[in-house]
Amino acid sequence: MDVRDTVKGLNSYVPGRSQEEIAKEFNLNKSEIIKLGSNESPWGSSKKAIEAIGKNLNQINRYPETNLENLKKLIADYSNTKIENVIVGGDGADEIIDILAKTFIEKGDEFIVPIPTYTYYEFSLKPYGAIPVYGRWDLTTNSLDVSSILEAVSNKTKMIFLCSPNNPTGGVIPKNDIVKILKEVDSLLVVDEAYVEYSNADNVDLIAKYPNICILRTMSKALGLAGLRVGYGLSNPEIIDFMHRVKPVFSLTKPSYIGALETFNDKEFISKSIAKGIESRDYLYRELLKISNLNVFKSDSNFILVNTEKTRLRSAELALRLLEKGIIIRDCSSFQGLDDYWVRISIGTLEEDEKFINILKDTLFD
Ligand SMILES: Cc1ncc(COP(=O)(O)O)c(C=O)c1O
Repeated sequence: MDVRDTVKGLNSYVPGRSQEEIAKEFNLNKSEIIKLGSNESPWGSSKKAIEAIGKNLNQINRYPETNLENLKKLIADYSNTKIENVIVGGDGADEIIDILAKTFIEKGDEFIVPIPTYTYYEFSLKPYGAIPVYGRWDLTTNSLDVSSILEAVSNKTKMIFLCSPNNPTGGVIPKNDIVKILKEVDSLLVVDEAYVEYSNADNVDLIAKYPNICILRTMSKALGLAGLRVGYGLSNPEIIDFMHRVKPVFSLTKPSYIGALETFNDKEFISKSIAKGIESRDYLYRELLKISNLNVFKSDSNFILVNTEKTRLRSAELALRLLEKGIIIRDCSSFQGLDDYWVRISIGTLEEDEKFINILKDTLFD
């Protein structure tokens, strides 16, 4: 079979592991597993969304909506922008990244990513023949090294990806750093705000001022819909129009559409979910700081990065020992820019956090 050369050289994506998988592998009861590995919301979804999806299940013999105006309007209001600035993805924000690749990338183009960061950008762009050029996320200050991005720019740079708050480090990129980069480059600057609800890092106002910014957002995190796969992109109408031309036509399923509409209308659910997320993150941070030999990163997101080097326990080993006790965390050794001693812990309910902290202490001081 004549597979494309750009695909032959690729490695498979390494996602966080599911409860089903772990229950089977370690012979555990699925309901007792605490999942702190994939930055989801542990408080479920809007009850109104679940109810509305249930009521509309008899319509799934029909193709879904393609004119997503009602949802785009709610997204525009939620994000403080206009409907013509919005594109919706049916495989989450990941689909928006894929659409960006399809819209902009020619073979041989370069794209810049500061490492460590979210790994899907590379996964999505490489099959199109794009070449990653690495900038630097400064782990000593948990901040973007802006000059490393500017130094990486060449006449082949097509896109720059900046994640704020950054996954997996949790630090935010100050708006003036984003503006500095926007002013110096012509390439498209993609600012991934998947975790914006847990921070104050909103850059939507920059869309009206700069022609080369696209913002990514998702309903998978604070809005509790990871399983429905709804994400969106925000940019100027011209870019949004080009992106619509290559977007998969029916990718947003009917249940996802209905669930998304109801969730945006459920303001009480949204504000509670965000408040509980921040409370859980702050609790986890305080408790992790009390454990000696861990280097704990302050986070503006719904996860916390921890360096385990001083414990002499590699992340893969720690993750495995916790898995045996029914706790899933993310071993970050597959992230570019991190070595074998980093784990990322997502927020759980306070009860899950407390159990996790106790089991972690037992595991480290066994
Ligand atoms: C930084 C970042 N961007 C985008 C995504 C993808 O989100 P979605 O579930 O909407 O595809 C994730 C998911 O973990 C993420 O961490």
